[in-house]
Amino acid sequence: MTNNSSIIINQSNNLEGEINIPGDKSITHRAVMLGSLSRGRMDITNALLSEDCKRTINAFILLGVKISVSKNIISIYGNGLHSLKPPTEDIDAGNSGTLARLISGILAVQDFNSSLTGDKSLIQRPMKRVIEPLLEAGATIRSSNNMLPLSFIKSSLSPIRYTSKLPSAQVKSCLLLASLFIQGKSIIAEDTKTRDHTERMLEYLNYPIDIDGKLITLSGLGVIEAKDISVPSDISSAAFFIIASLIQDDSHVTMKSIGINPLRTGILDILGQMGADIQIVNSNSINNEPVADILVKSSKLSPINISGDIISRLIDELPILFIACACCEGDSLISGIEELRHKESDRIQSMQEGLIRLGIKVETTLDSIKITGGDFKGGIVNSYGDHRVAMSFLVAGLISKKPITVIDTDNINTSFPSFIKILKDQNNEIYNL
Ligand code: S3P
Repeated sequence: MTNNSSIIINQSNNLEGEINIPGDKSITHRAVMLGSLSRGRMDITNALLSEDCKRTINAFILLGVKISVSKNIISIYGNGLHSLKPPTEDIDAGNSGTLARLISGILAVQDFNSSLTGDKSLIQRPMKRVIEPLLEAGATIRSSNNMLPLSFIKSSLSPIRYTSKLPSAQVKSCLLLASLFIQGKSIIAEDTKTRDHTERMLEYLNYPIDIDGKLITLSGLGVIEAKDISVPSDISSAAFFIIASLIQDDSHVTMKSIGINPLRTGILDILGQMGADIQIVNSNSINNEPVADILVKSSKLSPINISGDIISRLIDELPILFIACACCEGDSLISGIEELRHKESDRIQSMQEGLIRLGIKVETTLDSIKITGGDFKGGIVNSYGDHRVAMSFLVAGLISKKPITVIDTDNINTSFPSFIKILKDQNNEIYNL
């Protein structure tokens, strides 16, 4: 991730036909982790083989699990909950916050020591949110300033009792994964419900788990069954092409088998309120996760004013939603988004800087952004190595009168390696510099 290549995109054609969206990142991470702790073979199909997910595969290979990858199928040959082996080197989570936070729960409860690190962005992201509750349960974790690298020292943990004030599926999942290894009943609660893929997958793999509203109870030392998992396509990746199709005239696009977990579909609800023509058809369920086909037609969008619980249901879609807001006539206000400052970049800052460079009026506070719609006038923007910022500005380039150059785009590979190819296949003028 150090080439920092730039991409230039010219005003482009309408989007048409079927767009193939790759597998869900959150679900792929979890499938590799739970497959590694199950006993037997698990085949994960439509898996996302992005840089972040490859880091997770490599982490579990380093922990002694046999894993093979062929096309987009990951085969895991698990040997049960207590089969992990001491790693021979530090585990490197690369750019992946999800891997770093979730695997911390697993490493903290092993009967061996280990160390975890990450790339230059990840080592600056907060880890206190997982370190604190793990320490409370008796873990021994060394770090400087609650940041990566972390050292996990073998210790024995008591059942976890924790209520997360921060809406974070990563914190919740970290603690659920740790609870699997702790004798007795752990109780984990959250003030705001966040994506529940870990809970759904444990249920699917027949691990006893009790979910009562925002309260989850799980007793450790049970058995995770190895069952094949087919990964729904990622709504967070689909969001770029949903908004691209909405803002580009005469577009009409279909995306099949997209995960529509209600804790991830805030973006569809808000775009609906903005006047988007989006249809959800062929609803179905795969491995305890809801999926559907999404049909999108170009639409005139109206500005929005949002805050509160909806934010955690569209947290990853905010950068591309800002692009949609820039295409509306009038002011949009999005508040309660301070968490965006702790993503792969400070997304409020990166998006504000880029939008202003493209001629859009933006005002921000610590936890909000106000965007006044206007025309993109083209120019050079920096993604600050943030995949979702890079993809958002490339989507803006589709309708910008003059070309947009996005600097530092390699990290698109962390979540959506086929993004550029899809844009090119849609006959868009897009070039690597
Ligand atoms: C994720 C949870 C969210 C999200 C991230 C993936 C997950 O992070 O932003 O991209 O897979 O659990 P937080 O838990 O920090 O909100």
